[in-house]
This record gives sequence, structure tokens and C-alpha cells, in this order.
Amino acid sequence: MNDRLALLTAYPFERLARLKAGEHPPAALPHIAMSIGEPKHAPPALVIDALRQNLGKLDSYPATLGLPEMRAACAAWLARRFAVRVSADTMVLPVNGTREALFSFVQAVVSAASNARPVVAMPNPFYQIYEGAALLAGAEPLFLNTFAEQRFQPDLDAVPAATWDRCQVLFLCSPGNPTGAVLSLDYLRHALQLAERHDFVIAADECYAELYRDEAAPPPSLLQAAVASGHDGFQRCLVFHSLSKRSSVPGLRSGFVAGDPALIKPYLLYRTYHGCAMPVPTQLASIAAWNDDAHAAANRALYREKFARVLPILAPVLDVVEPDGAFYLWPDVQRDDATFTRELFARQNLTILPGSYLARDTAAGNPGRRRVRISLVAPLDECVDAAQRIRNFLER
Ligand SMILES: Cc1ncc(COP(=O)(O)O)c(C=O)c1O
Repeated sequence: MNDRLALLTAYPFERLARLKAGEHPPAALPHIAMSIGEPKHAPPALVIDALRQNLGKLDSYPATLGLPEMRAACAAWLARRFAVRVSADTMVLPVNGTREALFSFVQAVVSAASNARPVVAMPNPFYQIYEGAALLAGAEPLFLNTFAEQRFQPDLDAVPAATWDRCQVLFLCSPGNPTGAVLSLDYLRHALQLAERHDFVIAADECYAELYRDEAAPPPSLLQAAVASGHDGFQRCLVFHSLSKRSSVPGLRSGFVAGDPALIKPYLLYRTYHGCAMPVPTQLASIAAWNDDAHAAANRALYREKFARVLPILAPVLDVVEPDGAFYLWPDVQRDDATFTRELFARQNLTILPGSYLARDTAAGNPGRRRVRISLVAPLDECVDAAQRIRNFLER
């Protein structure tokens, strides 16, 4: 087997299952899962209808490049959402959810040609795929801590120039999982300056771009930062978008990447061999989803309502703030996060995720330590019930 597989860390949910093993929570309380980031809102009817209507189209192999209509719908959405002009012919590719794309893109892009060991930089805590992708590509993961004091933004200026010189990919995630922090246009432009100076690619995971607090301030895209910096060709930029969170269809496995055609072209070649074309019915359902913004706004409103109901219950006992984006709370619980998680489960039959499982130890500590991730994905009543249970737990 590939010996790099041994470098992979157990996925946080495996560690969580081990943490909970042997506990016997009160059977009278139904279990509430707030650990995983799987949207639970009803999928929009227009997506389900389009999928049903096109099931007959399973009789041909789909092209890796996708249907022109699919790429056009993605480009049109980018134009509406971020006011950027992206060529549907050369700058967009459908992917089967961003997870596989975040992984496979790194395999396609990391080069061992230079003598120095390649670096793939990422925020810490982070979506676990970034690290696995880096390790399996033979790169060294570089963890950029995100602490509350820096508004959960990786400090790019703390990285020595010699390390940036070895960097081949910088992952950014905005809105961030688990912090919910949004990176500003200025921050993204600064990241691009570094990318240009040290010749690396920025992989911007924007899968939460449609879930944000302030309707008047939607999170910007790396593509906007590129245009604002005069890079209309999106040099060194690739953004990752998904319907999983936007349209509450994590099971559809539908997303797309967009950006620099000089990255898209070889990545398409890689994907052709990898064999990960999107089925035609999925593409047609995805077109319906990308073409409609009303359901995404309604989805956003549902999360806002959850924050509005949950935060007043938790605020007296927990240091909680409403994040700028995504659907997580990331509070400092002022004690060991794994113990907190285990005891909460044991007493309240409620599962959350220890923050340290989502981060790695660094010289400056583990930025997930003493924090927990609480996903507001369950129905509103369950979220309110869960908040009340956390409060009861902390008040006892
Ligand atoms: C930050 C982040 N990126 C990517 C993904 C993958 O989403 P999908 O593969 O459903 O597009 C997730 C899912 O939880 C995530 O939290």
C-alpha cells in the first residue's frame, strides 16, 4: 500500500465515537446530533423535481467537463453573486461536491520537481480534507493558527518568506468551518500578493458563501479580490463552491470549481483519468439549483432564526457570538473540550465536537483546545432544546 496512508489522522468523527463509547446518556432524552455539518433543511422542490424528470438520462456516460449548460449556470451564478465574469468554457468545472475536489486538486497540482519539499498551507482548525490531501500528495502541511484575538484569520505575515517559497497551495476557507469567520476583500488581496510574489496557488473553499448573517454584507470571493487586483484571468486562483450547504442537498454531491484556466485545463485532464464525471441527472438538477436564488435566501433565513433563538439561551452561560457566516457556534468552554463533550453527551444525550479534534498542535498550542463546534443543522425546535440542555448542563 501507499505508505503515505499511514500519515493520515483518524477522522474527527471516529475519535468522537471513541470518546463517547461506554457512556450511557439518559434514555428519556432523545439524542440530538450537533456534531456534524450536514444540512438537514428540506431540499428545494425544484431540485428534486429536476432530478426526477431527468432520471431517464442515466443511459450515457457523462463528460468530465460537464454539460455546457451546467457550466453556464455556474458562471451565471458567479456573475450574480460576486459580479465577476468567468468564462463557462475555460474557467469552470463541475465537481462531485467540494470534498473530492479539494482533495483531488491538490493531487493534480503539487509538484515534486523542485528540490525543496513542497508545502501546502491551511488554516488551523480546518476542514480535515486539506491536511489529508497535502499528506497524500507528499507535501508538508503548514498550519496557520486562527485565534479569536486575530478574528480567526490566519496570520499570513507570520510565515517566513523561505517557507512561502516552498508553498505550492494555500487553502483559505471563508466563511470558515468551524469559526464562521469571513475573510475581507483586503485580506484576500493581500493573500494574492503573496501568491504572486512566491508563486503559489490559492485554493479558496467558499462552500459556505451563501450562508451569512448580514444580508447587506455577503462574504466576498477570492475571484472578486483577483479582479480588484487587476487579475481578470484569475491567475493562481481556484474557488470551490457547493450546493450541499447552499441548497441543503449534501447527498446530491454537486459543486464546481472556477478560476484560472491554466489550472482548470490540467485539472480537467487529471479528472478525466480519475474518473469523476458528474451524472447528467445530477447536472440538470444542479442547473435548477444554481439558477434559483430565492431558495438559498430562504435557507439562510432559517439559519438566522436558529441563531436568534439559540444565542439568548446560551449567552448567560457560554461565551457565544453569532458568526459572520456558516452554521456553527465555536465557543470557548473554558475547560478541556473533550471532557466537556463527553460529559455533555453523558448527561444530556447531546453530541457536539471537541475543537481540538479539528485542529493540530503547533508551537503556539492547539487553537481548537477548550473550544467546541456546535452545528445548528437540526430543526429549529431541536436546536432550541439542545441550547436549553447545554444551559442546564452548565448551570448544574
Ligand atoms: C469547509 C468545508 N469544505 C468543504 C466541505 C465539503 O462539502 P461538499 O463536499 O458537500 O461540497 C465541507 C463539508 O462539511 C466543509 O465544511
